[in-house]
Amino acid sequence: MWSARLCQLNKRITKDSPMANYFLCNETELPNYQARSFSVETAQGAIELFLVRQDRRIRAYLNNCPHLSIPLNWQPDEFLSLEGTHIQCSTHGALFTMEEGHCIAGPCTGQSLTPLTIEQQDDGKIVLQHKSDSHQQP
Ligand code: FES
Repeated sequence: MWSARLCQLNKRITKDSPMANYFLCNETELPNYQARSFSVETAQGAIELFLVRQDRRIRAYLNNCPHLSIPLNWQPDEFLSLEGTHIQCSTHGALFTMEEGHCIAGPCTGQSLTPLTIEQQDDGKIVLQHKSDSHQQP
């Protein structure tokens, strides 16, 4: 897990929805059809998440299986099926689509992973965009 490398880049404050950006990694550090886990410390607590890459498209999901609300992986950065075509839960083998995190096989069929908002910046940085507590100062 890449928690040591995390730093908060900045806070972008709008009138009603303060957002904080958290640097995750550079695009070049996430090979195609691979996943990486992260632990992001926010003002509201830690967020355990992972990124998965499909060609140029990178998506982020909470590292939480909808079956038992436990982490999907038992090894760092191991989230994909053997074929590398789906996200797979290591506990009971549920398969999720990379595109939408929708469970297509296993005990939580029909449920979905929780997507998170990320931004792929022009310079290749990938940042998590997380809504800050509205009671906090920027
Ligand atoms: S905990 Fe993930 S499929 Fe059971």
